[in-house]
Amino acid sequence: MSTDHLNIEFALHQIPERLLDESKNPKPHVHSIEKYNELYQESISNPKEFWGRCAKEFLHWHKPFETVLSGGFEHGDISWFQEGQLNASYNCVDRHAIKDPDKVAIIYEADEPGQDRKITYGQLYRDVCRFANVLKHHGLKKGDTVAIYMPMVPEAVIAFLACARLGAVHSVVFAGFSSEALRDRIKDADSKIVITADEGCRGGKIIHTKKIVDDALKECPNVKRVFVFRRTGSDVPFNPSRDLWWHEEIEKQRPYCPPEIVNAEDPLFILYTSGSTGKPKGVLHTVAGYLLGAAVTFKYVFDYHEGDVHGCMADIGWITGHTYIIYGPLINGATTVLFESTPIYPSPSRYWETVSKHKITQFYTAPTAIRLLRKYGREHVDGHDLSSLRLIGSVGEPIQPEAWEWYNEVVGRNECAIIDTYWQTETGSIIISPFPGAVMTKAGSATVPSFGIDLVILDPLTGQEIKETKAEGVLAIRQPWPSIARTVYNNHDLYLRTYLHRYKGYYFTGDGVGRDSDGYYWIRGRVDDVINVSGHRLSTAEIEAALIIHPSVAEAAVIGVHDDLTGQAVHAFTTLKPHCESTDLGELTLQVRKVIGSFATPKKIYVVKDLPKTRSGKIMRRVLRKVVDGETDQLGDLSTLSNPTLIGPLIEAVKNS
Ligand code: PRX
Repeated sequence: MSTDHLNIEFALHQIPERLLDESKNPKPHVHSIEKYNELYQESISNPKEFWGRCAKEFLHWHKPFETVLSGGFEHGDISWFQEGQLNASYNCVDRHAIKDPDKVAIIYEADEPGQDRKITYGQLYRDVCRFANVLKHHGLKKGDTVAIYMPMVPEAVIAFLACARLGAVHSVVFAGFSSEALRDRIKDADSKIVITADEGCRGGKIIHTKKIVDDALKECPNVKRVFVFRRTGSDVPFNPSRDLWWHEEIEKQRPYCPPEIVNAEDPLFILYTSGSTGKPKGVLHTVAGYLLGAAVTFKYVFDYHEGDVHGCMADIGWITGHTYIIYGPLINGATTVLFESTPIYPSPSRYWETVSKHKITQFYTAPTAIRLLRKYGREHVDGHDLSSLRLIGSVGEPIQPEAWEWYNEVVGRNECAIIDTYWQTETGSIIISPFPGAVMTKAGSATVPSFGIDLVILDPLTGQEIKETKAEGVLAIRQPWPSIARTVYNNHDLYLRTYLHRYKGYYFTGDGVGRDSDGYYWIRGRVDDVINVSGHRLSTAEIEAALIIHPSVAEAAVIGVHDDLTGQAVHAFTTLKPHCESTDLGELTLQVRKVIGSFATPKKIYVVKDLPKTRSGKIMRRVLRKVVDGETDQLGDLSTLSNPTLIGPLIEAVKNS
C-alpha cells in the first residue's frame, strides 16, 4: 500500500482553553495526556484490574463476579464477569429512581417543535415496570426475543428496558427498513412478540409503521402478540386476535415489577448489521460487558458530569442509539435527548434550536448531517445560543477535514471539544476517539484508542503486525474488551470466520487505517463489500440480492461511489435476462426499497451487456469503480478479465447514463 500521504503532517488543534478553565467547566475526568496514558497503559497491561474496578464502580451487581475475563479469540468463548448477576433495567433506572426520582431521564424532542416532553427517572421506573408487567402477562419469559419496530418516542426506550427487566432479548429493527427486511429479521431472531406504533412522524411526513408490520407478519406465524403504541391516533389496521393497544394494556398493570436477575453473559440484545454476505447478521451483545463498555466510554469520552444534557441525534434502531441515547447515559443516571425529527425540519436550524432550548452540553451527530448543514450555510447556526455546548461529536463514517473544521468553528466556535468517534455495531462502544481535556485533535483523525482497546495495524496480505509508528494497513485488535459482540445469533461459525479467524489472534474490524508519526489513527473506510451511505451501513451483496429478484435482472453488481453529501452513494450495474431487451429502472429502484428500505436506494443504475469478471467468474468491482470515477486509464491489471472487449461498452454505458 502507498504510504506517501503519511508524510503530510496535519495540524494539531490544542485543547480549547474553555475546557480547562475550571471556573467555566467541570474539570475533565481525563484532564491531561499523562492521565490518559496512565489509564490507557493500565487498561492494556492489566485489563483484569482495570475492568474489575470499573465493573464495581459503574454497575450494581446482585451477585458479585469472581473472574474478570475468561476465554478469548481462538474459540470466541469470551466471557466477562462470569459469575456475576445483575439486571440491565435495574442498573439504568431503579437505582437512579431511588436516589433522585425527579431528575429528568429523557427529553423527548418530538417531530413538531413545541411538542417536547420530559420523563423523570421516577416516571421511567413506573412506565418500565408497567410495560414489563404487560409483557409478562402475555407470556414473555427470560431469554425470549422481542422485535421492536418503533419511531423515536419515549415508549421505544420503555420497550427496550421492559424487555431487559424480564431478561428478554430485544431485537430492534430500524424503522426505515421495509416490511420484507423486518420479516427476515423477525424470523431469523425467532421473535414471538413485536412492539410497534400506529404511525411514525419524521420531518413532517407520516410513516405507516403498523401497516409495514402487518405486511411483514403475513409470513411470521410465530408472532402471537403485537403491542401498538398510539403515536398519531390515525385509524390503522388492527387484528383483534393478535394486536393490543399499548395504552389499554398498561392501564391494567401496576407500576411495580421485580427485575429478573440474569447472568453477566446472558444476552441483552441482537442488532442486525450488514456484512459481506447477502444476509444480515444478528450481532449479539451480552448484559454486563456491553453495559460496562457503554457506561465507561459515555463517562470518559463524552466527559459526562452531573447536570449535563446529552444530545445524541442518532436513531435508536442503530447501535449509536442503543449505546449513546439509551444505555450509556442511563447507566450513568444522565439526562438524554430523544430527537424524533431531522436536521432540516422545519428548517435547517432545528438542531441548534434544540440545543439552545434544552441546554444540551454534549451534541453527537453523523458527518452526513454536518455536510448537509454546511451546505445550507452558517446563517442557520449563527444567532442561536449554543453556549451550553461543551463537546461536539461525530460518528458513523469518516469526517472530511473541511466538514470537521466547519463543525469545530461554526458549531463549536473553537471552544468546544470535538470528538470524531470510531466504532462499530460489533464493538458495542467507542474504540477510537479523542478524550476531551487530554488529547489534541487533528481534523479527520479519530486519534487514539479508548481504554482497553489494544489496536494493531496488520498487513492485509500477510496478516503480520506492522510495528512502525507510521503505518498503513487493516485495523485489528489484540485483546478482548468488555463490549465486544459475543456471537452472531445462531451462527457462531460466521462470527469466528468474519471477526476472529480472518487474522488469527486478532479481532478484525473490516476497516483500512493509517497511523501517522504521532500515533494518531486515520480510518480509511471498509476493505470489504460494505458501503456507508449517510452513515447507514449497507452490504453490496444485500442490494445485489434485492435487484436479482426482479424478473428482468440476470446479474447485478453494486459499488459504493464517493458522494459529497452522503459520503458514498449506491451505484448498481445490472445485466438483463436473454428475453429482456430493456427494463424500467424505476421498477428496479422500487425493488431495492421494497426488499431493504428507501435508505438503500441506488443513486444510479446502469444496464450493461456484460459485467467484468475474472476467469473464475468473480465480478471485478474494482474495474466498475474506476469506470464510474472516470479513471479509465487506471483500470489496473486486466489480465484475469475473462472478456476484455466489454470494457469499451461499459465505459459508454456509464458515460451515457
Ligand atoms: O467503516 C466504519 C464506519 O462505520 C462502520 C461501522 O458501522 P456500524 O456498525 O453501522 O456502526 C456505526 C456507528 C458506530 C465502521 O466499520 N465508521 C464508524 N465510525 C467511523 C467510521 N469510519 C470513520 N470514522 C468514524 N468515526
